[in-house]
Amino acid sequence: MDANALAAAAMKAREHAYAPYSGYHVGAVALGGSGRMYSGCNVENSSYGLTVCAERVAILKAISEGEREIAALAVATENGAAPCGACRQVLFEFGPTARVLLCAADGAQKECRLDDLLPSAFELKR
Ligand code: THU
Repeated sequence: MDANALAAAAMKAREHAYAPYSGYHVGAVALGGSGRMYSGCNVENSSYGLTVCAERVAILKAISEGEREIAALAVATENGAAPCGACRQVLFEFGPTARVLLCAADGAQKECRLDDLLPSAFELKR
C-alpha cells in the first residue's frame, strides 16, 4: 500500500465534498483487494439525516464496482478525525482488519487498524 498516494487521493476527494450545512469537508479513498482506489466525499442533504459520509460513499463505490475486500481506507478531514461508528461497521463487512489512514489538512497522518477502532464488531457471517 502506498500511504502517500492514498492520502493524496483522499485530500483530492475532499475537494468534492458537498457540505453546505456543516461546512465540514471529508474525503475518503478505499483501496480494493484488486489494488484499485475508489474515492468518496460526504454528501449532505437539507433533510440532515439523509447525509452520507465520505467513507461509506468510497466503500460502496468499491463494492458496486465488484470489489469484495477493502484493504485500506484513507480519510481526509480538517483535523484528522477517525471515521464515525456507522462507517466503521460498514468497513468491517469488507475489511475487518483494514488499515485506516487518518489525514489532516496540515499534512499530519496517523495510521491505525479497523480492529483497533471497532473492537467487538457486530457480525452474522464468518
Ligand atoms: N462525516 C463524514 O463524512 N465521515 C465521518 O466519519 C463523520 C462525519 C460527515 C457527515 C457530515 O456531512 C459532516 O461530516 C459533519 O458531520
